[in-house]
Amino acid sequence: MNNCPIGVFDSGVGGLTVVKELIRQLPNENIVYFGDTARVPYGVKSKPTIIRFSIENILFLLKKKVKLICVACNTASSLALPSIKGHFNIPIVGVIAPGARRASQLSSSRRIGVIGTSATIKSRAYEKELKRLDPKIKVFTQACPLFVPFVEEAWINKKPLEDVAKIYLEPLKKKKIDTLILGCTHYPLLKNLINKIMGPKVNLVDSAKETVKQLKDLLIREGRLRKKTSRSKKVFYVTDEKTSFYYLGKSFLGSDLIKVKRVNNV
Ligand code: DGL
Repeated sequence: MNNCPIGVFDSGVGGLTVVKELIRQLPNENIVYFGDTARVPYGVKSKPTIIRFSIENILFLLKKKVKLICVACNTASSLALPSIKGHFNIPIVGVIAPGARRASQLSSSRRIGVIGTSATIKSRAYEKELKRLDPKIKVFTQACPLFVPFVEEAWINKKPLEDVAKIYLEPLKKKKIDTLILGCTHYPLLKNLINKIMGPKVNLVDSAKETVKQLKDLLIREGRLRKKTSRSKKVFYVTDEKTSFYYLGKSFLGSDLIKVKRVNNV
């Protein structure tokens, strides 16, 4: 069981920011990644649809004999995870609780901002988790739906993105938050820009990083880390054509994706 892979799923390519952290923090682990590229984006879809897609993605990963599942997608973690978690006989870790916990640790003013897809923000998942941790925390949220297409077009350093980012982020800045949760798989790629707009005094919380930290603690606690007998393997499954995932994936992962396979039936 310890040598079974960690399963990760996302609506598409964005979850590779979590895989990048997995490779950094848990280099010996085997990974099976599932990117639902045929049905991306999830961030504009309804809760029942996101729940249905998430169940299908989990069933796919279970067939690959994973030992644990990480829901890399913030939208699926917000809308689907609470209702489906208890129905599977395997640990399923989402990105909301780890991100919220880190934000709560970092914030001294107790004024925390959250940015994410429209569905994530509408679900109030981060807000509820932050309030659960400390009811005194004041939460300010902002949906940033245009960030995902900008990142996927590789328009990260272009002026139009900076203009859009200012429109989204300046109202949060006025709220005098001291911590901002990057509540979407794509936002770690915008860290420099967000930092430039928010200023150096605002802590940016990368949910991907915090989630992998928590996942690592869980595997250590349960004695389920993989014993290194050979090089770790990574396989990436996608539900649409492989080429764009392959090229775009490189910018998310920071390295080449060796084994990408297309699957048709989830
Ligand atoms: N992966 C999604 C998230 O983290 C962003 C892309 C989408 O809308 O599907 O919320």
